[in-house]
Amino acid sequence: MAQPRGQWSGKLGFILAAAGSAVGLGNLWKFPYITYDNQGGAFVLVYIGAVALVGLPIMIAEITIGRRTQRSPVGAFRILMAGRSGGWFWSGLGFLGVSAGFVILSYYTVVAGWTLRYTWMALSGQLRELAAQSGALDAYFGSYVANGGAQVLGTGIFMTLTIGAVYFGVRSGIERVAKVLMPVLLLILFSLAIYASTTAGFGEAMTFLFRPNFSELTSQSVLEALGHAFFTLSLGMGAIITYGSYMNKKCSVPVAALQIAALDTVIAILACVVMFSIIFSFDMEVSKSAGILFTTLPAVFFQLDGGGIIAAAFFILVAFAALTSTISLLEVVSSYAIDELAWSRRQAAMTMGAAIFVFGVLNALSLGANDWLTDLNLLGASHAGLFNSLDYLASNWMLPVGGLFIALFAGWMMSSKDTWAEVSQGHDGSAAWYPAWRFLIRFVAPVAVGAIIFSIIFLGMEYQ
Ligand code: TRP
Repeated sequence: MAQPRGQWSGKLGFILAAAGSAVGLGNLWKFPYITYDNQGGAFVLVYIGAVALVGLPIMIAEITIGRRTQRSPVGAFRILMAGRSGGWFWSGLGFLGVSAGFVILSYYTVVAGWTLRYTWMALSGQLRELAAQSGALDAYFGSYVANGGAQVLGTGIFMTLTIGAVYFGVRSGIERVAKVLMPVLLLILFSLAIYASTTAGFGEAMTFLFRPNFSELTSQSVLEALGHAFFTLSLGMGAIITYGSYMNKKCSVPVAALQIAALDTVIAILACVVMFSIIFSFDMEVSKSAGILFTTLPAVFFQLDGGGIIAAAFFILVAFAALTSTISLLEVVSSYAIDELAWSRRQAAMTMGAAIFVFGVLNALSLGANDWLTDLNLLGASHAGLFNSLDYLASNWMLPVGGLFIALFAGWMMSSKDTWAEVSQGHDGSAAWYPAWRFLIRFVAPVAVGAIIFSIIFLGMEYQ
């Protein structure tokens, strides 16, 4: 550990980097389609509840663990367990997080690569031509994902961009990218939202999103909202532990966590407002799956005035959001090598990035390009293909299990004195939140996450 440890330049740097991690494909692609599948209103409310009562407390726990130990997950748990028995188990939990980062990044970059392709297609006019012929967008998407060369290229370009940011370090790489991309992302999204409010479908979209109808709500939706709260806030694998380890002791942990969670939620909801306003304007069918982003939306964009610009702005928005998320995933894996194996940052970013890319190629080829990888059936017929199997493994197992144990660790293995010693630093405001947090992290979060895991095992539910 010869190199001085990186640190964010200040509060804003941390907030934007962590919000950059949180805001990603989960917000702009997954949340809209699961909201649609779950009939809107009531689901949105439950989701907000899940973020507030489970996501936010676990985010506070992760930041606390990271900032206290100044380490990424494996080292963080080792330090906190020093001199106590069972340390191997908790370091193992840290390792599960690092592995989850590896796995998620290996398929996330594939989808992220699509956003680059579609940005290019929107700018070059190809997307407009496809939108003009009925069925052409679907056909194009199908043949594009099955084109091995194109998939590997997109994945490779995206991984190169990701490595570039991690290579330059916490402040000159990660923070700098987030400080440019996040404001642009917000600007694009707000502009699209203002535009959406002038479309014919806006009223219907608002009713759909904000008028809850609780009779539509099922226990499956509640659990799906909870599962998604995890993924969208980047919780359960130590990404926020790692980012928290670069946080200055002068910043307030609960305030930062609240701002990140709020920003993530606002962006997810705004994405719904934009998409549903546009889609409802034309009475389009919404398909579950990647379709909403890459086939349904492009089709409607070109029915609008200035469709090409809207489409390009939209895909750039998604690409930016994805990039700040892939950076956080690579940072978790790299910081493990930096902290635990004493690698240099540059060596860690390039080696780990290259290794994940090589593995990612297998995912890139599992969408039709290679028969064996496409049909590979590791976890049951509904997850055929390596890509689907890994997404299922990570979102349904690694993150919930990781989140459960992080909550248990912060609530039960760390003393109240210990956590207070950390969170009181840099927080000048009222301390009234603290007992509430303790209660949520000790009881509410473990029970809720336990319910997710229970329902996956015993009720056969899935969250993806
Ligand atoms: N939160 C991101 C999204 O919504 C994805 C992501 C980035 C993530 N880092 C993570 C998910 C760490 C889980 C864990 O798309």
